[in-house]
Amino acid sequence: MKKPVFAANWKMNLGPQETRGYLKTFLEAFPPAEDRTVIIFPPAISLVVAGFALRDRPDVMLGVQNVHWEEKGAFTGENGAAMAKDAGATVALVGHSERRHTFGEGDEITAKKCAAAFKAGLTVVLCVGEKIEERDRNTTQAVVLRQLKAGISRLTPAQVAQIAIAYEPVWAIGTGRTATPEDATTVHTAIRRALKEVVNAKNVEIPILYGGSVSKENADSLLKAPEVDGLLVGGASLDPAIWASIAHT
Ligand code: 13P
Repeated sequence: MKKPVFAANWKMNLGPQETRGYLKTFLEAFPPAEDRTVIIFPPAISLVVAGFALRDRPDVMLGVQNVHWEEKGAFTGENGAAMAKDAGATVALVGHSERRHTFGEGDEITAKKCAAAFKAGLTVVLCVGEKIEERDRNTTQAVVLRQLKAGISRLTPAQVAQIAIAYEPVWAIGTGRTATPEDATTVHTAIRRALKEVVNAKNVEIPILYGGSVSKENADSLLKAPEVDGLLVGGASLDPAIWASIAHT
């Protein structure tokens, strides 16, 4: 059995001071649990403080929400993957729908960022997901599989075997409208099939997470759905008590 993965994406919330208070409350409510993987993605500016707060809790991993595809240089406002690693991250979120649709990052940029993360020694949670109009046109799987194949196109099969995928339908993010467990299973099954072709192995252990309006109330039914190996949580992870309860699911 794979361990379920519980990932919190704080997006542009919780600066360094708030991070300190949040993690104190969260760690008190969430004792180390070996049967699951917990990852927190704070804003880059809070990573160092988060790393310090988690110094006695190696069971909670830290990730960076975004990296640039170049190592360093004249890219005002950006963060390189090696810098994120230096600040305490071991994972990078790549291809999040807000990066794709608010910041205009397409498949090529996503692929370059995945490669840059691995080059710096980070692993990747690669996000994929269709917009509502794509779903209405019945192109969900075509869109998701295109994003998936493009995202991993610059990785070796051995690197692909180390990533996690997050299926986050754009219409479910921050809307209170969740995909049904059946919807998630259908798309996750297609993702799994595509991954098996790339990695060329029977039992590919790549976790496939669901994200989009996950709450304390729906976490359990989503996690029980076949092929749902974990959850990527935005809004509901901003309250440390609620996040602790979801991570206990
Ligand atoms: P919400 O949980 O707020 O819908 O956000 C999901 C998300 O985008 C996580 O990356």
